[in-house]
Amino acid sequence: MTQRIFNFSAGPACLPESVLVEARDNLLSLGNTGIGILEHSHRGKAYLAVHERAIALCRELAGIPADYDVLFLQGGASLQFSMLPMNLLAAGRTADYLVTGVWSQKAVVEARRVGLVHEACSSADRNFSYIPTECRYSSAPQYVHFTSNNTIFGTQFAHDPVPPADVPLVCDASSDIFSRPLDIAKYGVIYAGAQKNLGPSGVTLVIIRKDLVAAGPKDLATMLQYRTHASENSLYNTPPTFGIYVLGLMLQWIKSQGGLAEVARHNAARAGKLYHYLDHSRLFRATAEPGSRSVMNVNFVTGKPELDEQFIAQATRTGLDGLKGHRSVGGMRASLYNAFPTEGVDALIGLMREFEAAHS
Ligand SMILES: Cc1ncc(COP(=O)(O)O)c(C=O)c1O
Repeated sequence: MTQRIFNFSAGPACLPESVLVEARDNLLSLGNTGIGILEHSHRGKAYLAVHERAIALCRELAGIPADYDVLFLQGGASLQFSMLPMNLLAAGRTADYLVTGVWSQKAVVEARRVGLVHEACSSADRNFSYIPTECRYSSAPQYVHFTSNNTIFGTQFAHDPVPPADVPLVCDASSDIFSRPLDIAKYGVIYAGAQKNLGPSGVTLVIIRKDLVAAGPKDLATMLQYRTHASENSLYNTPPTFGIYVLGLMLQWIKSQGGLAEVARHNAARAGKLYHYLDHSRLFRATAEPGSRSVMNVNFVTGKPELDEQFIAQATRTGLDGLKGHRSVGGMRASLYNAFPTEGVDALIGLMREFEAAHS
């Protein structure tokens, strides 16, 4: 087999080897069924057990209260940018959005197609390098939406924003879901594409309070109503069965690591090592402002684009892949999701030291 290398990709991203091996082993036969996981009917007993196990593990790991639905949808987090306001934002009402990066800007564009949007804060003035500390909410928002981790800019909310009383908080947690403990009761809705912390692309996890599901309009297209998926346990149509299967394996792996609190400790220590190095480097520096730094996506630059290019090329040659920053910011980005091995960060720091010695 080809040797595996360190994959710093922002998503789809690396998965634990044990998860990949188990998935591989079940491709030809799921357990002793004689039918591979890719081939099982979504109505059959074998797949339904996989489905229920994934939901149960979500509930267990995140402590999801009984008055919330756990949905497995398709269309990525990007479809949630539309589906959410379609279901939650009534005509003439305003939703407040915290604008902290490209993904929240995209969410605003879609919400504006449905209703009124008030931008409660924005960090666009310094190229989204920080998380604003203050929000100015509109007088009666129907919900408040924020992006907990800004994948492209490498910033993350250390603490969730506090919406006005009784206003549902909605979180796009695509790049940090299940990377730290969650207090689900604080949210009306929390959603994420699975392809960073929870498995492969193709499945979107939506955790939503049941009263918000019930209050949604009934004249939307069937597939766009949360109600449809909630009442059918995400089995109204064919769900992304393989994605849900791997998501379940990933949740089992998180559990085996000690759950969300332990994973959070591990993630913070791993990113902390890299930030520590960056703060003492004579060549490299982190781009996110202290206090707003992401534990999941660490962005850094040398200050000279041509040197950045050279570093990325050298890293790729030595088996450190996916370090090129997003095209809108340049530089480097090390994505360190749940499954990323600490040895990869050690290897990166080792290479940065060498590069620094040769170039600073
Ligand atoms: C924070 C955030 N929101 C939304 C998206 C869009 O997700 P998807 O590609 O699943 O639509 C991404 C993708 O990277 C993201 O990082």
